[in-house]
Amino acid sequence: MRYQKYLLKHYQQTNRLQIRADYQAKFRSAPQPFVDWVLDHLPIKGNERVLDAGCGTGAYLFPLAQRLPQGTVTGIDIVPEMIDLLRSKLDDDSNIQLQQADIQQLPFEDQTFDLVLANFVLFHVEDIFKAISECKRVLKPGGVAVFATGTSQLSRLDTIHRTALKQLGFSKKVIHSSHPVKRFSLENGADYLRHHFSWFEQFLLHDQRQVPTVQDVLEYYQAGMIEWAFEQAQIDITEDQLKQLYQLVGERLETIIEEEGAFRESKLGGFFLAHK
Ligand SMILES: C[S@@+](CC[C@H](N)C(=O)[O-])C[C@H]1O[C@@H](n2cnc3c(N)ncnc32)[C@H](O)[C@@H]1O
Repeated sequence: MRYQKYLLKHYQQTNRLQIRADYQAKFRSAPQPFVDWVLDHLPIKGNERVLDAGCGTGAYLFPLAQRLPQGTVTGIDIVPEMIDLLRSKLDDDSNIQLQQADIQQLPFEDQTFDLVLANFVLFHVEDIFKAISECKRVLKPGGVAVFATGTSQLSRLDTIHRTALKQLGFSKKVIHSSHPVKRFSLENGADYLRHHFSWFEQFLLHDQRQVPTVQDVLEYYQAGMIEWAFEQAQIDITEDQLKQLYQLVGERLETIIEEEGAFRESKLGGFFLAHK
């Protein structure tokens, strides 16, 4: 399947996720990293059984393991190479368990976990309702599920990206499918969740980024999901077109940084906390 191939290609380059995480950490204005902010809101005593669905490079997995001295955390991801890579980082006595699996079909009994996280994952899955119902199924009564995501509003960088696509003559289909978060966002997430959970809350974090160099923004941009738009529209982007895109975005960033001294953008992130 084309979509699966895309995910594999993107996430096999695991350094992309790291580059994005490092950028967010380096240039944030919020007093703590987003991951810590999310985890600080969760009812963790230290002895829970936790599932991190779509664990990626382990941004939540490792800090969670530290907060669970008497508990365990199970990480699943659809990309097998991601799981292999994580496994190679584990100590023998780790309280982290790993398994390749699809969030839409979790290989666990009903009511297995006290806490389930599915952060920045739902907008990738084909059947968002199925994924949410699976998270609820494996949750114990009284447990909570966490769904972190971003906003459907275009960021300043997204807007620059779209303008560059337009300048290069790409179709509306490509231009408008270039924002995957829109599928499950802070704005529309409640419309999905209310079908499965009768009580959930939303927590928001407003961050302001200020990046002084073009190089840093470009590196972050290039580690993003540029090819997503093309996969969605079922169009291949050539190396040449990609180069032109980077060139145009780079030029725009240069002008902004020259005029304003830095590239500033607001970043809204957050999560839904759903109670079973
Ligand atoms: C944007 S990353 C988020 C990683 C991590 N949760 C975080 O917040 O840093 C999305 C992850 O979800 C995984 N993923 C996508 N579709 C999935 C599915 N159907 N089942 C399980 N994992 C999936 C991807 O392979 C990727 O590692």
